[in-house]
Amino acid sequence: MNIFDLTGKKALVTGASSGLGVQHAKALAEQGADVALFARRLDKLEVVKNEILAMGRQCIAIKCDVTSEGEVTSAVDEVIRIFGRIDILVNNAGTSANSPSEQMTEADWDKVLNTNLKGVFLVSKHVGAQMIKQNYGKVVNISSIFGKVGNSMFPACNYHAAKHGVIGLTRAMADEWAKYNITVNSIGPGFFESEMTAGAINLPEFKAYVENSCPMKRIGRPGELNGALIYLSSDASSYMTGHTIYVDGGWTAV
Ligand SMILES: NC(=O)c1ccc[n+]([C@@H]2O[C@H](COP(=O)([O-])OP(=O)(O)OC[C@H]3O[C@@H](n4cnc5c(N)ncnc54)[C@H](OP(=O)(O)O)[C@@H]3O)[C@@H](O)[C@H]2O)c1
Repeated sequence: MNIFDLTGKKALVTGASSGLGVQHAKALAEQGADVALFARRLDKLEVVKNEILAMGRQCIAIKCDVTSEGEVTSAVDEVIRIFGRIDILVNNAGTSANSPSEQMTEADWDKVLNTNLKGVFLVSKHVGAQMIKQNYGKVVNISSIFGKVGNSMFPACNYHAAKHGVIGLTRAMADEWAKYNITVNSIGPGFFESEMTAGAINLPEFKAYVENSCPMKRIGRPGELNGALIYLSSDASSYMTGHTIYVDGGWTAV
C-alpha cells in the first residue's frame, strides 16, 4: 500500500495561476488526484489546466476571488457539482504589500489580511461544510516562515499578522473538525521564486540576508515543498492535525 497515493482524490488549490500554487496543483495530480484550480486570472489557470489534463487527470479552472464570500460560495458549489466531493483543500492564494508599519496604508493592511487570512477562512468554511458531510478531508494552509518569525529586510506587518493568523486558524479549525475526520495543517515555506518574490530575490542585499538567516544558505528549489504537501494531503498524515511544517532550509530552526 502506498500511503502517499492520491488516486481518485478530488483536490482544490487556490492561487493556482502562478508560482507555488501551480507546483502544488501539479504535485497533487502527479500523485493521482483530480484538481480544481481557483484564481482571478482565468487565462493563466487555463494553461495550468491543460498541463494537468495532459497528465491524464481531470482538471477544472474557475475564476474566484477568495476575498469575496459570494464568489467563493459559487465556485466551491461548482467544484462539488462537477467532482461530487472535495477531499483535499490547499489554501495557497496570497499577496503582499510591504511598507514600514508607521507608513502602511489601511488599504494595504486590508488587501493582505483579506487575501491571506480572510480568504483562507472563507474557502475553508465552504469546503469544510462539504468535508463534514463526507466525514473526510485534508486541509493544507500555506503560511510562511513569517508566520513564525519577524524579518529584518522586508517590513510587512500586514503579511506577518496574516501568516501568524493562518497558523492560529489552522489550530482552531483542526480542533473543531477533528471529530469529522478532517485534518487541518499548514506549511511554512522559506523563500521560493515566484511572481510575489521576483522583485525581492533579485535585490543585491537579498543574497547576504539569506546567507545570514538560513543554515542551508539558499532559497528553496521548485518541487521542494512537494514532500510536505503530499504528506499533509494524503493518509500518511492521518494522525497529524493542527501543526505547521516549516520547509525553510532551517531558517526558523536557528
Ligand atoms: N514564494 C515564497 O517565497 C513564499 C514563501 C512563503 C509563503 N508563500 C506563500 O505562498 C503562497 C503562493 O505565493 P507565491 O509566492 O506563489 O506568489 P504568486 O506567484 O504571486 O502567487 C499568488 C497566487 O495567489 C493568487 N491570488 C492572489 N490574490 C488572490 C485573490 N484575491 N483571490 C484568488 N487568488 C488570488 C494569484 O492569482 P491571481 O492573481 O490570478 O488571482 C496567484 O495565483 C502565498 O500564500 C504566499 O504568501 C510564498
